[in-house]
Amino acid sequence: MKVLIYGGSFDPVHKGHYSILKAACSYLKPDKVHIFTAYQSPFKNKSPRPFALRKQMAQEALSSIYSNIIFDDFELEQKRVVYTYETIKYVKKLYPGCQVYLLVGTDCLNDMPRWKNSEYIFQNSVIVAGIRKGVTFKTQDFKYILLKGDFPLISSTNIRLAILSNGLLPNSLLPTTEERIEKDLMYGLDLHKWLEAHLKPKRYLHVKLVAQASVELGRLYGANLEDCALAAVLHDSGKSMSNEELINYAIKNNLKVRDFKDICKFSPSLLHSEVSYHIAKNVFKIKNTEVLNAVRHHTLGRKNMSLLEQIIFISDMASKDRKIKDARIVKQAALTSLQAGVFAAMKVKLEWTIANSKWVAPTGIEFWNELCLKNN
Ligand SMILES: [Fe+2]
Ligand SMILES: [Fe+2]
Repeated sequence: MKVLIYGGSFDPVHKGHYSILKAACSYLKPDKVHIFTAYQSPFKNKSPRPFALRKQMAQEALSSIYSNIIFDDFELEQKRVVYTYETIKYVKKLYPGCQVYLLVGTDCLNDMPRWKNSEYIFQNSVIVAGIRKGVTFKTQDFKYILLKGDFPLISSTNIRLAILSNGLLPNSLLPTTEERIEKDLMYGLDLHKWLEAHLKPKRYLHVKLVAQASVELGRLYGANLEDCALAAVLHDSGKSMSNEELINYAIKNNLKVRDFKDICKFSPSLLHSEVSYHIAKNVFKIKNTEVLNAVRHHTLGRKNMSLLEQIIFISDMASKDRKIKDARIVKQAALTSLQAGVFAAMKVKLEWTIANSKWVAPTGIEFWNELCLKNN
């Protein structure tokens, strides 16, 4: 009896999962296929979307591939990180004497000797892998079958990032998954719906371009990319309000803003970062303080900004919709170091403020002086 097993977070399931599973089924013609939705992937620090939702997406996308596919709740029942060797043990107990085939991506194949209890995996299963485009494959000394076909290199992480950054679904998703994501407004689609309804088109475009810039910088400096995109998408959520509305919002919600009276008198639009912070926290229920602080301090900056705060501060001034010359200066500086990027971004802001004979908030002046001290 041949049993094919395939596991993943399916957060979300995509065409890469579909094509490799289809190829494995048609090559092996297994008697049973067990799909394991990960309760919590051992390789990820953050909790993924709820198990039931990810399993449902996998079911909707993959069940038509083959008969005898079982969407197994084994990992959910364990309520903990489950390692592959444990899953193989479970399947062997379920079907005594069966031959287990373990389906993985080629990128996993290279890492497998380092998996927990890998000796057990190699002794008790045959590894089945699809060659993915762009992944270099090293010959291994355990039993494996390489599937013929051209398996696209798609990552669920990049799909989530793309949706969160620009509110559009990439074409690496299957139609059933697209429908589910749109119906349940997952991966930040809810934020984009709100922003599209509340911001002017130009501002909404700005937000998406800041997200793009922040993800680029995040990659360069090793930040959490989903946090970069999330903070960028939210950073100007209060920007649609008029000066009067911003002041009223701040009063009504009892926002604690330094120099509030002067800001109201000279530059009420500065309130938008505090209002955006409040919206992120209370309307979108964001709990990640790193993200919230990056939203809150994106306009005037503050001493000792975190990695994410610096990235958002710079990206806001380096996005493609900014004046080309300014954006280029800020971006070039940020490629040298984050400190140089923040300095350049603050300089552009101050130059603009002074050129337009506008009031400079004390927080901004203090921050500028602090940057000058650091730079010299
Ligand atoms: Fe802003
Ligand atoms: Fe902005």
